[in-house]
Amino acid sequence: MKQITIAIDGYSSCGKSTLAKALAAKLGYKYVDTGAMYRCITLYLMRCGIVKHHETIDHQKLIEELEHINVTFKFNPALGFSEAYLNDENVEKEIRLMPVSENVSKVSTFKEVRQKMVALQKQMGKSKGVVMEGRDIGTAVFPNAELKLFMTADIEVRVQRRFDELHSKGIMISEEDVKKNLSERDLEDTTRNENPLVKAHDAIDLDNSDLNPQQQLDFVLKLIADMLLIPAE
Ligand code: DC
Repeated sequence: MKQITIAIDGYSSCGKSTLAKALAAKLGYKYVDTGAMYRCITLYLMRCGIVKHHETIDHQKLIEELEHINVTFKFNPALGFSEAYLNDENVEKEIRLMPVSENVSKVSTFKEVRQKMVALQKQMGKSKGVVMEGRDIGTAVFPNAELKLFMTADIEVRVQRRFDELHSKGIMISEEDVKKNLSERDLEDTTRNENPLVKAHDAIDLDNSDLNPQQQLDFVLKLIADMLLIPAE
């Protein structure tokens, strides 16, 4: 069957990863979480003291360190998805914690960071058969993707989802702090100069405020079936 590229963009905590993972599993495609890649870079820069919360980042030092950063994914069969590795260290859990979430959008504004990541992402998806999610996939990474989705959801719904996710992992944080982090990241991600989060002109809107994961998956499978004329189940 013809393999396609599926690009999913959208705001923070819109359920992009959940949908992308389900789609990749259903279609036998590769799944790439590009947010994890920016989170790995942020973690590295935090560890070497170049990124500190609320402090200006030394641009020159950031550029110098970039060449020492290697981001990869390795499939974990027990979990059923790929985990992020920073210079061969599994950092899947650490990159999801608040300190990284608080700094990642700032790090993602740098042109050199984006150039490095976009080049890697293009490479990862060059054989098609990929579901890639992030903020600039349909606009900068794969502007010719066969299917582009732009995901949105009400801020209160997103806050609740993120809050539940963090609490299920034992990370106790207030709803207020979750909301602050999501709002700050949305603002930074949509207003930066380099590849800001914008809807590609040919992307299909998916507001999932009132849709459960199965309904979202069915919606997209139907779109693919209509596009490729393959039978939807
Ligand atoms: O998807 P996520 O919430 O894990 O992404 C974390 C941050 O990474 C997000 O706030 C902005 C940045 N990011 C980006 O700039 N471009 C992407 N393609 C993916 C993520």
